[in-house]
Amino acid sequence: MQVTMTVNGTEYTREIEGRMLLVHFLRDVLGLTGTHWGCDTSNCGVCVVWLDGEPVKSCTVLAAMAGGHEVRTVEGLANGAELDPIQEGFRQCHGLQCGFCTPGMLMTCRALLDKNPDPTEGEIREAISGQICRCTGYSSIVRSVRWTAVHEAEARNAKEEVAQA
Ligand code: FES
Ligand code: FES
Repeated sequence: MQVTMTVNGTEYTREIEGRMLLVHFLRDVLGLTGTHWGCDTSNCGVCVVWLDGEPVKSCTVLAAMAGGHEVRTVEGLANGAELDPIQEGFRQCHGLQCGFCTPGMLMTCRALLDKNPDPTEGEIREAISGQICRCTGYSSIVRSVRWTAVHEAEARNAKEEVAQA
């Protein structure tokens, strides 16, 4: 069957088997290997991408179901050479060690901050509760998200001050 979807702003049409999962479409057909695949049980969350702006585990979505929809992967976070603030937050606060869980964590945490720009520690922990990190103990991930929230708030305030000047 043929499927057409937009991934990180580019439209792709490909011939696929109807049973192909979105995670395999992204990795094996489009070569976007930033999205990881870590389990067969929908538990680890390393495969999280956005489908029409909502984080989903791409191992639970058939590629065919994403037809006609917008997908965003970790490759679509940075703006050219400029890191997204959530990527900068993880860099500043050591939100990763081996990095295997990181693409999924970044996508979930970016979506959280877009909906809730000032999340509490509890809200961050709840947002990432469907994802497993074997390295960090989660504290540095929480710190990374808080760092990003604070820096994005400062940037917004600075913009408002310039606009009012
Ligand atoms: S690969 Fe583990 S939840 Fe998707
Ligand atoms: S940084 Fe290694 S699994 Fe999260």
